[in-house]
Formats: sequence, structure tokens, C-alpha cells
Amino acid sequence: MRNPIIAALDVPNVEAALKLAGQISPAVGAFKIGGELFTAAGPDIVRRIRDTGAAVFLDLKFHDIPNTVAKAVTAAVRLDVQMLTVHTSGGLEMMRAAEASAQLAAKMNGRAAPLVLGVTVLTSSNSSTMAEIGCEPNVVAQVERLARLAVQAGLRGLVCSPLEIVALRKILPAQVQLVTPGIRTRLGEASGAAWAGAEKADDQKRTLSPREAIQAGANWLVIGRPIYAAENPRAAAEKILESLN
Ligand code: C5P
Repeated sequence: MRNPIIAALDVPNVEAALKLAGQISPAVGAFKIGGELFTAAGPDIVRRIRDTGAAVFLDLKFHDIPNTVAKAVTAAVRLDVQMLTVHTSGGLEMMRAAEASAQLAAKMNGRAAPLVLGVTVLTSSNSSTMAEIGCEPNVVAQVERLARLAVQAGLRGLVCSPLEIVALRKILPAQVQLVTPGIRTRLGEASGAAWAGAEKADDQKRTLSPREAIQAGANWLVIGRPIYAAENPRAAAEKILESLN
């Protein structure tokens, strides 16, 4: 099996990102570049990570009119990213435009289409957040509704919380790829100082271990602090990979 660990490069600048990527690259399957790093470092950071040979997940959660999202996806394909995110709450037409643009731009650039991943309800939202903005207050029902809509729009993957994996696997076609953040290692105190820092839950409230998430049906694990905040990020990533076998 390919390495399912996507290490989040949640660091503030190019130097920190390249240093971290250099340290952990052989132990992970891909790197996630999100809003903080991309806004600080620009598209060049994507090129520089791609130049190392690593796959890139561009997590900018596009949500706009279909035409604008389609163009943003085309720009992401030109940067040669392997995964990117859009908000499913942008609706069917927006998601269809994103997927069509990924396919077309990939064909024109002679490469494989990136996996366009739908983000459903952010894990920072609860029923009162949903009610606040006039949405279905039952978060689980809203996640399932948006997940079905994403599949209907032709998306081939979704981002979901660890505790949504089992429910989504029941209602989605088996080939839909699930990418899961909110992973915490719980590998035990005896594991030693080399990857200390990997044990904390931080602000993630609903977590699964890497092994539990894969067993529940996740295809990819997005892991941030348990790797980058560890004393030895490389050892932490290797330990997590080992825990999957
Ligand atoms: O440090 P940690 O492992 O919690 O990082 C998780 C990564 O996944 C962060 O980059 C965060 O933005 C992202 N993420 C998340 N929860 C979501 C969606 C994305 O933690 N629901």
C-alpha cells in the first residue's frame, strides 16, 4: 500500500516549510499546503515542494461562483498539485465546474487530474453554528447531505472527520476517497522522547489513531502537530507509519 500520511506544512514561511519537508519527506506520502503557508509564501512554495518529488495537497477550500472556482482549479493544476479542496456548500454547479476544470486542465497539461476533495461541515461548527447561518442544525444530517451532493457532482473524494468515516462509508460508493484530519497517535508514554509532542490532542476534540482511521475506511490521514510539533518530526512520522503495519 502507498504511504497514506499527508503531513500538514502548517508553518509560517518558506524556510520552515522546506526544512520540515526535507526532514520528513521519505516517511510521508504527501504534503498539505494550507491557507497560512500559501498566503505567506505564494505559489512558489508549491513548486519548490513539487521539485523535491513529493505530492502536494493544496488545501485552500475554494468557495466562489462556479467560473471563479473553475479558474482557481485550473491554476492549481498548472502548479501540478495532486489534491485540492472545495467547499461542498458551494453547490452542485460549483462542484461540477471544479471537477470539469480539473479534468480539462489536466488533459491540456498532459498530467493526471488532481483529486478534487469536497469539504462538508467544518469540524469547528456545531448545531448552534449551523442554526446561526440558517442551515440544517443536525450536523450529521448536513454532512451526509453534502457528501451525497459531492458524489452527484462527480467529485471523487471528500475530507471528513474521523468520526464521520464509518457513516460516510455506508452511504458513499466504495471508490470515493476519504481524507481525514483529526488524527492523534496515542502511542503511549513508553515511546520515548524522540517523537515527544505527538501525544497531545491539542484543539482536536474528536480524534482517532492513524490505525483506527484506516481501519474505519479512511484512504488518507492528514497529520499536523503530531509530526511537526514533535521533537523529532522524522521519527514521529516513521513511528506513525510503523503503527499502520
Ligand atoms: O495539527 P493537526 O493534526 O490537528 O492538523 C490538522 C490539519 O488538518 C490542519 O492543517 C487543519 O487545518 C486541517 N483540518 C482539520 N480539521 C478539518 C479540516 C482540516 O484539522 N475538519
